[in-house]
Formats: sequence, C-alpha cells, structure tokens
Amino acid sequence: MKSRINELLEEVNRMAAANADELETLRIKYLSKKGQISELFNDFRNVANEEKREVGQLLNELKNKAQDKINELKDAVANSNSNTQQADLTRSADPLTLGTRHPLSLTKNEIIDIFSRIGFTIAEGPEIEDDWHVFGALNFPPEHPARDMQDTFFIEQNPDILLRTHTSSVQSRVMAEQKPPIRMLFPGRVFRNEAISYRAHCFFHQVEGLYIDKDVSFADLKQALLYFAKEMFGEDTKIRLRPSYFPFTEPSAEMDISCHICGGKGCPFCKHTGWVEILGCGMVDPNVLENCGIDSKIYSGYAFGMGVERITNLKYQVKDLRMFSENDVRFLKQFDSAY
Ligand code: DAH
Repeated sequence: MKSRINELLEEVNRMAAANADELETLRIKYLSKKGQISELFNDFRNVANEEKREVGQLLNELKNKAQDKINELKDAVANSNSNTQQADLTRSADPLTLGTRHPLSLTKNEIIDIFSRIGFTIAEGPEIEDDWHVFGALNFPPEHPARDMQDTFFIEQNPDILLRTHTSSVQSRVMAEQKPPIRMLFPGRVFRNEAISYRAHCFFHQVEGLYIDKDVSFADLKQALLYFAKEMFGEDTKIRLRPSYFPFTEPSAEMDISCHICGGKGCPFCKHTGWVEILGCGMVDPNVLENCGIDSKIYSGYAFGMGVERITNLKYQVKDLRMFSENDVRFLKQFDSAY
C-alpha cells in the first residue's frame, strides 16, 4: 500500500495539462469515485490495524496533494485561455477619457496662431532673470517704482537676480542677440508680489510682441493690433488707443476693444463704458534699441504686451482668476477647442 501511495504521489507531481479536456481526464483518473486514489481509500480497510494510522495519514496527504495540483492546473489553463484562444480581439477597447487643454493654453495658442499668420515667430526666455534684462535695458530708471519690493520678487542673496515681472525681458535678450528685422512673440509666465484675490495673482501669463525693422511706424502697430482684435474677438470688434506711459516705449498707448460681451452698449463687465482694456503698446524707445545694440537711426519698431488671463476672461468670462491655477477638473473640462 505504501509503495502504491508513493507511486501515485510521483505521478501527481508530474501531472500536466495543456487544456481543460486533459485536465478533466486527470481528475477522473485520480480523484473521481472510481479513480485510483479513491480505490486506495477502498482498500484501506485491508490495511493492518497497527499501520492504519500511518497509512491513513499518507493517503490523506496524497489526496490533498492531488486536489491542490488539479486546482493549480485549472488556474493555469484558465489563464492561458483568457490570454490567447478565448480573447475576443475584435472587441472595441474601453474608451479613453481625453483631457482638455488648459484655457490659458487655448488662449495663448490662439494668440500665437493669429500673429504667426502675419509673420511672427516665437522665442522664450528665463523666468529667473537679472535686473538688466527686466528693467535696465528697458529704460527703467534705477528709482522707478516698478522695481519696488512690492512688485518684484527678488532673490534674497542677490538683489540683481529676480523673477521677471513681464515678458518684455525676452525683448532685451532677443534684440541683443539678433539683427533686425525681428518679428517675434514672447509668451511666458511672469511674477509679481501681489496679494492673491479674484482679480490678482502672484503669477500670471503674458504674450509680448516685437517688430523691429526699417521704417516701422505707429500705423503698422495699429494695423497689426486691429487685425488681432478682429481675429480674436470677431469681425465687428473695434479698437481704441489711449495715450499711456511705459518706460520702454515712446509714444505709448493702451488699447481697448469694444466690449465683447455687450457689443459696446455697456454692461457690468465693461463697467458700462462699452470698452475693455486688453493690452499696452507703443513704439520701442530709441534708448532701448541702443541699450540692446541696435542703431536707432536706422531702425525703429513697435512692441505690445498682453495678459493671457485677461484675454481668456474676456473670451470665456471667467470671473475668478484663481480658477486658472486651482486645477479643478470640473472647471477645466468645460474648455474644448481647436487650439
Ligand atoms: N510689459 C508691460 C507690462 O507688463 C506690458 C507692455 C506694455 C508691453 C507696453 C509692451 C508695451 O511691449 O509696449 O505691464
């Protein structure tokens, strides 16, 4: 009896099944009512009394072992089936949830797209800048209030290094490195030391534009901006330029567009004026050209700078600036566009 148990134990250890049919044959051979292990149980009554205890234990072990092995093979067969023969390769895949672009990216891409159609290319510059590129080269006198600690984040160890407060800093880099004609856009993130509220944040985004060539005039600037306003906000959009001041442009202006929401009739959004301000602009100050190694007697140019958040607010009427950086998917999911 014991040798028969050992024989069967070896057979059980060697058991292998390639599919469910083979497995069933094995089960019947060893574990069914008439199977070989069951037969041994039937013979058990013939075992001498003094051996019953030992043989009974061996028999039970054999039976458990066989059952475990069958279960193990069953799992293996099931797995290999689901991976190969039984997988339905024609079944369509689970739908992938596609994300949407961030509204600020949509606006930025649209601005870039509009200006690229009239020949503007793109350059980017560092967010951590030196004083010269953010202020000095751009004609900010040393005591100019925009350099004040309240607006600018300085790096403590070295006040010459700061977080750029505008993307005009890329102007000074590009003009120092390239020869005119230059017709470029500078998109990017800027930083200002402001208390965070629904209408202000310590960082936001700008797109700066620069065109330097021979005989560039204010009329060229106005034409480019009118084209932009119509492309961005619709053919009926009107623009209005108001005199303003920026250290790096002379003359300088701020541009309003007819209110996109009420069509110029007056509403709470435009504070009932019919106009909303969207950007600053002007003719590049000759001092700036000279600071960057461009001969101001030969070349002239225009520049403009706009806040991406502001344009986005106008386009999509987002009332709270903080929404842009909170990454609430319920907000972000609402934006779906070609850009
Ligand atoms: N750099 C200005 C700002 O951050 C925006 C600006 C105004 C840019 C006039 C210009 C410009 O290029 O001509 O407020």
